[in-house]
Amino acid sequence: MTAQLNPRGDVAVLVPAAGAGVRLGPGRPKALRLLAGEPLLVHAVRRVATASVRSIVVAAPAAEVAEVRELLAPIAPVTVVAGGETRQDSVACALAAVPADVEIILVHDAARALVPPELVESVAAAIRAGAPAAVPVLPVVDTIKRVSAEGVVTATVDRAELRSVQTPQGFRRAVLTAAHAAGSDALTDDAGLVEQQGVPVTCVPGSEFALKVTRPFDLALAEHLLTVAPEPVAPRTLIA
Ligand code: CTP
Ligand code: MG
Repeated sequence: MTAQLNPRGDVAVLVPAAGAGVRLGPGRPKALRLLAGEPLLVHAVRRVATASVRSIVVAAPAAEVAEVRELLAPIAPVTVVAGGETRQDSVACALAAVPADVEIILVHDAARALVPPELVESVAAAIRAGAPAAVPVLPVVDTIKRVSAEGVVTATVDRAELRSVQTPQGFRRAVLTAAHAAGSDALTDDAGLVEQQGVPVTCVPGSEFALKVTRPFDLALAEHLLTVAPEPVAPRTLIA
Protein backbone atom coordinates (compact mmCIF):
# COMPACT_ATOMS: atom_id res chain seq x y z
CA MET A 1 0.00 0.00 0.00
CA THR A 2 1.27 3.50 -0.82
CA ALA A 3 2.20 5.39 2.35
CA GLN A 4 0.55 8.75 2.99
CA LEU A 5 2.92 11.57 3.87
CA ASN A 6 1.83 14.23 6.38
CA PRO A 7 0.72 17.32 4.41
CA ARG A 8 0.95 19.47 7.57
CA GLY A 9 4.38 18.08 8.54
CA ASP A 10 7.43 20.31 8.94
CA VAL A 11 10.06 17.77 7.83
CA ALA A 12 11.54 16.94 4.43
CA VAL A 13 13.84 13.93 4.10
CA LEU A 14 16.56 13.88 1.45
CA VAL A 15 17.70 10.37 0.50
CA PRO A 16 21.07 10.25 -1.27
CA ALA A 17 20.91 7.03 -3.31
CA ALA A 18 23.16 7.76 -6.28
CA GLY A 19 26.27 5.87 -5.18
CA ALA A 20 27.76 2.93 -7.07
CA GLY A 21 28.39 0.65 -4.11
CA VAL A 22 31.96 -0.17 -5.06
CA ARG A 23 32.70 -1.72 -1.67
CA LEU A 24 29.72 -4.05 -2.04
CA GLY A 25 31.37 -5.58 -5.13
CA PRO A 26 30.27 -5.76 -8.77
CA GLY A 27 26.57 -5.29 -9.47
CA ARG A 28 23.86 -2.68 -9.77
CA PRO A 29 24.10 0.71 -8.00
CA LYS A 30 23.93 -0.02 -4.27
CA ALA A 31 20.49 1.50 -3.66
CA LEU A 32 19.06 -0.97 -6.19
CA ARG A 33 20.77 -4.05 -4.74
CA LEU A 34 18.33 -6.49 -3.21
CA LEU A 35 17.79 -7.11 0.49
CA ALA A 36 15.27 -9.91 1.10
CA GLY A 37 14.06 -9.51 -2.50
CA GLU A 38 13.58 -5.73 -2.47
CA PRO A 39 16.02 -2.90 -3.32
CA LEU A 40 17.74 -1.25 -0.34
CA LEU A 41 16.14 2.05 -1.40
CA VAL A 42 12.63 0.58 -1.16
CA HIS A 43 13.28 -0.56 2.42
CA ALA A 44 14.73 2.85 3.32
CA VAL A 45 11.90 4.90 1.79
CA ARG A 46 9.23 2.65 3.29
CA ARG A 47 10.68 3.20 6.77
CA VAL A 48 11.20 6.94 6.33
CA ALA A 49 7.62 7.28 5.04
CA THR A 50 6.32 5.55 8.20
CA ALA A 51 7.57 8.55 10.19
CA SER A 52 5.61 11.81 10.13
CA VAL A 53 7.24 13.58 7.18
CA ARG A 54 5.91 16.07 4.68
CA SER A 55 8.17 15.35 1.73
CA ILE A 56 10.79 12.83 0.56
CA VAL A 57 13.34 13.66 -2.15
CA VAL A 58 15.51 10.83 -3.52
CA ALA A 59 18.74 11.48 -5.43
CA ALA A 60 19.05 8.49 -7.78
CA PRO A 61 21.86 7.50 -10.14
CA ALA A 62 21.37 9.69 -13.26
CA ALA A 63 20.82 6.68 -15.53
CA GLU A 64 18.24 5.15 -13.18
CA VAL A 65 15.94 8.12 -12.43
CA ALA A 66 12.97 6.78 -14.43
CA GLU A 67 13.41 3.27 -13.00
CA VAL A 68 13.59 4.61 -9.43
CA ARG A 69 10.46 6.73 -9.96
CA GLU A 70 8.56 3.64 -11.06
CA LEU A 71 10.00 1.54 -8.24
CA LEU A 72 8.98 4.02 -5.52
CA ALA A 73 5.57 5.04 -6.88
CA PRO A 74 3.77 2.20 -5.03
CA ILE A 75 5.77 2.83 -1.83
CA ALA A 76 5.27 6.56 -1.12
CA PRO A 77 4.81 9.86 -2.99
CA VAL A 78 8.46 10.83 -3.49
CA THR A 79 10.28 13.28 -5.72
CA VAL A 80 13.17 11.65 -7.60
CA VAL A 81 16.04 13.75 -8.97
CA ALA A 82 19.38 12.79 -10.53
CA GLY A 83 22.25 12.67 -8.05
CA GLY A 84 25.84 13.77 -8.65
CA GLU A 85 29.44 12.58 -8.64
CA THR A 86 29.85 12.69 -4.86
CA ARG A 87 27.46 12.18 -1.98
CA GLN A 88 27.68 15.90 -1.25
CA ASP A 89 26.65 16.69 -4.86
CA SER A 90 23.72 14.28 -4.57
CA VAL A 91 22.51 15.92 -1.36
CA ALA A 92 22.78 19.35 -3.02
CA CYS A 93 20.67 18.10 -5.98
CA ALA A 94 17.98 16.80 -3.60
CA LEU A 95 18.11 19.96 -1.47
CA ALA A 96 17.27 22.04 -4.55
CA ALA A 97 14.01 20.10 -4.92
CA VAL A 98 12.65 20.55 -1.37
CA PRO A 99 9.31 22.42 -1.09
CA ALA A 100 9.90 26.06 -0.12
CA ASP A 101 8.05 26.09 3.20
CA VAL A 102 9.67 23.11 4.94
CA GLU A 103 11.84 24.22 7.85
CA ILE A 104 13.43 20.96 9.02
CA ILE A 105 15.55 18.89 6.66
CA LEU A 106 16.80 15.39 7.37
CA VAL A 107 19.40 13.66 5.21
CA HIS A 108 19.23 9.87 5.23
CA ASP A 109 21.48 7.41 3.35
CA ALA A 110 19.58 4.90 1.22
CA ALA A 111 22.26 2.45 2.33
CA ARG A 112 20.87 2.63 5.90
CA ALA A 113 17.89 0.64 4.69
CA LEU A 114 16.62 -0.61 8.05
CA VAL A 115 16.42 2.75 9.82
CA PRO A 116 13.72 2.62 12.51
CA PRO A 117 11.07 5.34 11.95
CA GLU A 118 11.47 6.24 15.63
CA LEU A 119 15.03 7.35 14.84
CA VAL A 120 13.71 9.65 12.08
CA GLU A 121 11.23 11.07 14.61
CA SER A 122 13.84 11.57 17.33
CA VAL A 123 16.26 13.46 15.04
CA ALA A 124 13.40 15.69 13.81
CA ALA A 125 12.33 16.25 17.43
CA ALA A 126 15.84 17.45 18.37
CA ILE A 127 15.67 20.13 15.64
CA ARG A 128 12.12 21.08 16.61
CA ALA A 129 13.38 21.49 20.19
CA GLY A 130 15.87 24.11 19.02
CA ALA A 131 19.08 22.33 17.91
CA PRO A 132 20.40 23.78 14.62
CA ALA A 133 21.77 20.32 13.72
CA ALA A 134 21.45 16.82 15.18
CA VAL A 135 23.03 13.44 14.46
CA PRO A 136 22.33 9.92 15.77
CA VAL A 137 25.40 8.37 17.38
CA LEU A 138 26.46 5.04 18.83
CA PRO A 139 29.25 4.44 21.34
CA VAL A 140 32.38 2.93 19.78
CA VAL A 141 32.85 -0.65 20.98
CA ASP A 142 36.28 -1.51 19.57
CA THR A 143 39.56 -0.13 20.87
CA ILE A 144 40.66 2.45 18.30
CA LYS A 145 44.32 2.98 17.39
CA ARG A 146 46.07 5.48 15.18
CA VAL A 147 48.29 3.64 12.69
CA SER A 148 51.14 4.91 10.48
CA ALA A 149 51.34 4.40 6.71
CA GLU A 150 53.79 1.55 7.50
CA GLY A 151 51.14 -0.25 9.55
CA VAL A 152 52.66 0.48 12.96
CA VAL A 153 50.50 1.68 15.86
CA THR A 154 51.33 5.24 16.83
CA ALA A 155 48.66 5.85 19.47
CA THR A 156 45.62 4.45 21.23
CA VAL A 157 42.74 6.91 21.09
CA ASP A 158 40.54 7.45 24.16
CA ARG A 159 37.38 5.62 23.14
CA ALA A 160 35.21 7.37 25.73
CA GLU A 161 35.06 10.53 23.64
CA LEU A 162 34.43 8.80 20.29
CA ARG A 163 31.07 8.06 18.64
CA SER A 164 30.02 6.37 15.40
CA VAL A 165 27.73 8.72 13.51
CA GLN A 166 24.70 7.57 11.54
CA THR A 167 21.89 9.08 9.51
CA PRO A 168 19.28 10.57 9.42
CA GLN A 169 21.12 13.79 10.21
CA GLY A 170 18.79 16.71 10.87
CA PHE A 171 19.16 20.43 10.24
CA ARG A 172 17.30 23.72 10.33
CA ARG A 173 16.88 24.37 6.63
CA ALA A 174 18.88 27.62 6.63
CA VAL A 175 21.79 25.89 8.40
CA LEU A 176 22.05 23.09 5.83
CA THR A 177 21.59 25.44 2.87
CA ALA A 178 24.33 27.78 4.11
CA ALA A 179 26.70 24.90 4.87
CA HIS A 180 26.24 23.43 1.40
CA ALA A 181 26.72 26.81 -0.25
CA ALA A 182 30.00 27.32 1.66
CA GLY A 183 31.31 23.74 1.82
CA SER A 184 34.19 22.82 -0.43
CA ASP A 185 35.90 19.82 1.16
CA ALA A 186 34.66 16.38 0.20
CA LEU A 187 33.09 15.11 3.40
CA THR A 188 31.26 11.88 4.09
CA ASP A 189 28.40 13.52 5.98
CA ASP A 190 26.42 16.75 6.12
CA ALA A 191 27.04 17.47 9.77
CA GLY A 192 30.72 17.85 8.85
CA LEU A 193 29.85 20.76 6.55
CA VAL A 194 27.78 22.35 9.30
CA GLU A 195 30.62 21.91 11.83
CA GLN A 196 32.92 23.80 9.45
CA GLN A 197 30.52 26.74 9.79
CA GLY A 198 30.97 26.64 13.56
CA VAL A 199 27.41 25.47 14.15
CA PRO A 200 26.96 23.13 17.16
CA VAL A 201 25.76 19.62 16.31
CA THR A 202 23.66 17.84 18.95
CA CYS A 203 23.92 14.07 19.44
CA VAL A 204 20.86 11.83 19.90
CA PRO A 205 20.90 8.08 20.62
CA GLY A 206 21.41 6.06 17.42
CA SER A 207 20.23 2.56 16.49
CA GLU A 208 22.10 -0.57 15.46
CA PHE A 209 19.31 -1.13 12.93
CA ALA A 210 20.46 2.02 11.12
CA LEU A 211 23.73 0.31 10.12
CA LYS A 212 25.05 1.36 6.72
CA VAL A 213 25.16 -1.45 4.20
CA THR A 214 28.68 -0.97 2.88
CA ARG A 215 30.32 -4.39 2.44
CA PRO A 216 28.83 -7.82 1.65
CA PHE A 217 28.90 -8.73 5.38
CA ASP A 218 26.57 -5.80 6.11
CA LEU A 219 24.08 -7.05 3.53
CA ALA A 220 24.08 -10.48 5.18
CA LEU A 221 23.65 -8.86 8.61
CA ALA A 222 20.78 -6.66 7.39
CA GLU A 223 19.10 -9.72 5.88
CA HIS A 224 19.32 -11.45 9.26
CA LEU A 225 18.01 -8.37 11.11
CA LEU A 226 14.95 -8.40 8.85
CA THR A 227 14.15 -11.95 9.90
CA VAL A 228 14.36 -11.11 13.62
CA ALA A 229 12.63 -7.69 13.36
CA PRO A 230 10.55 -7.56 10.18
CA GLU A 231 8.39 -4.61 11.28
CA PRO A 232 9.61 -1.06 10.59
CA VAL A 233 9.12 -0.13 14.24
CA ALA A 234 11.36 -2.42 16.26
CA PRO A 235 11.10 -2.07 20.04
CA ARG A 236 13.96 -0.56 22.11
CA THR A 237 16.36 0.06 19.25
CA LEU A 238 17.75 3.43 20.37
CA ILE A 239 21.09 3.26 22.16
CA ALA A 240 22.56 6.20 24.05
N1 CTP B 1 25.66 8.54 -2.54
C1 CTP B 1 25.04 9.40 -3.45
N2 CTP B 1 25.76 9.93 -4.49
C2 CTP B 1 27.07 9.63 -4.63
C3 CTP B 1 27.71 8.77 -3.71
C4 CTP B 1 26.98 8.24 -2.65
O1 CTP B 1 23.84 9.68 -3.33
N3 CTP B 1 27.71 10.14 -5.67
C5 CTP B 1 24.84 7.93 -1.47
C6 CTP B 1 24.83 6.41 -1.55
O2 CTP B 1 23.88 5.97 -2.52
C7 CTP B 1 24.51 6.00 -0.13
C8 CTP B 1 25.04 7.16 0.71
O3 CTP B 1 25.36 8.22 -0.20
O4 CTP B 1 23.12 5.86 0.10
C9 CTP B 1 26.26 6.74 1.53
O5 CTP B 1 27.33 6.47 0.65
P1 CTP B 1 28.15 5.11 0.59
O6 CTP B 1 27.72 4.17 1.66
O7 CTP B 1 29.59 5.44 0.45
O8 CTP B 1 27.58 4.47 -0.78
P2 CTP B 1 28.33 4.28 -2.16
O9 CTP B 1 29.09 5.53 -2.48
O10 CTP B 1 27.30 3.82 -3.13
O11 CTP B 1 29.31 3.06 -1.83
P3 CTP B 1 30.87 2.95 -2.20
O12 CTP B 1 31.53 4.12 -1.51
O13 CTP B 1 31.26 1.61 -1.66
O14 CTP B 1 30.94 3.04 -3.71
MG1 MG C 1 30.76 6.14 -1.22
